[in-house]
Amino acid sequence: MEPSPAGLIIRQKEPRNLETPFDRLDGYLTPTEMFYIRSHFPTPNLDRAAYRLHVDGAVRHPFVLSYDELRAMPSETRVATLECAGNSRVFLVPQVPGAQWELGAAGNAEWTGVPLRALLERAGLADDACEIVLEGADRGTPKEEPRPADPILYVWSVPCAKALQPEVLVAYQMNGRELTPDHGFPVRALVPGHYGMASVKWLTRIMAVREPLQGYWQTTDYAYWDTLNGNPVRRALGEMQLKSEIARPRVYEILPANRPYTICGAAWAGETDVAEVSVSTDGGRNWAEAEFLDPARRHAWRRWKLDWRTPNTPGRYTLLSRARDASGVGQPDEHDLKYGTYVINHCLPIEIFVGQ
Ligand code: MTE
Repeated sequence: MEPSPAGLIIRQKEPRNLETPFDRLDGYLTPTEMFYIRSHFPTPNLDRAAYRLHVDGAVRHPFVLSYDELRAMPSETRVATLECAGNSRVFLVPQVPGAQWELGAAGNAEWTGVPLRALLERAGLADDACEIVLEGADRGTPKEEPRPADPILYVWSVPCAKALQPEVLVAYQMNGRELTPDHGFPVRALVPGHYGMASVKWLTRIMAVREPLQGYWQTTDYAYWDTLNGNPVRRALGEMQLKSEIARPRVYEILPANRPYTICGAAWAGETDVAEVSVSTDGGRNWAEAEFLDPARRHAWRRWKLDWRTPNTPGRYTLLSRARDASGVGQPDEHDLKYGTYVINHCLPIEIFVGQ
């Protein structure tokens, strides 16, 4: 039976784009039924018995796997945070197009599957292959302009250097259970450390290519502006940027004055570790170091907390959190405009009210 979306916030009803209420952050792992869903097209109805995974392109021995054959291969289980590249878009002023995600297009889960590397080794990846194209079974016409004339598949390409890392999985389980239809049943890619768009759901084809794919998703949707020889060029998004989020209090929450309150949240990064989180309760003038609840684990988030006494004076207060990575680099103060409506990882102001 399909799990109910009870408790999730609708950003778009169909195709399903549902957000986790981030103020409900509780355990280390986000329960599957509370995990955000970001789908461009309607969820395809795939049958496990009929399922086939094609591995081909720039390889010496292309092959096709059934679901059972995939399950029979040695598997790995890893914890990884997924964040949609458009998470926190609602904080951008003026408002930009796209789903108005607040803080909950991110979650942390335990994923089980076969390392992509094992499949590529079996196929005999060509030495001059540069990217691995991951193809989903869902198809449709993108919503935002400019859009291609005909319906397209959801496809993402991952540089070989990343695709061959041991953490990249062809996953069939999430939090110890088989994937739900909305999270990619029966098989999805899991590319820890990269924004969610790389973790292709309903994965049916893995194709090695010798030229970088210049598809719609890489150049038009999930792309940003870079400069090459003085010219603006579009590049695909990749690694998640360092970010921390305050889960509680939530935006516009009213807290009683002069009481103990534990501010808490989570912080994550792409290919680096979160080493420190500090919190400001006065709009960024003063900062206090938060305490971690979870160890540093590459690709997985760390929850944190800070014990606070709410101010005596009623009014509006701005809370901020800032993560630093192991090399001391912190989150930026402002959104980097080259990323347009994506990569919103600056210190997000959480306005709250202190009552009597
Ligand atoms: N895979 C397919 N086939 N189709 C999609 O629309 N959305 C991507 C990615 N994989 C998508 C997809 C995006 S943008 C994100 S953020 C993640 O899936 C979300 O995964 P989830 O819905 O399991 O949370």
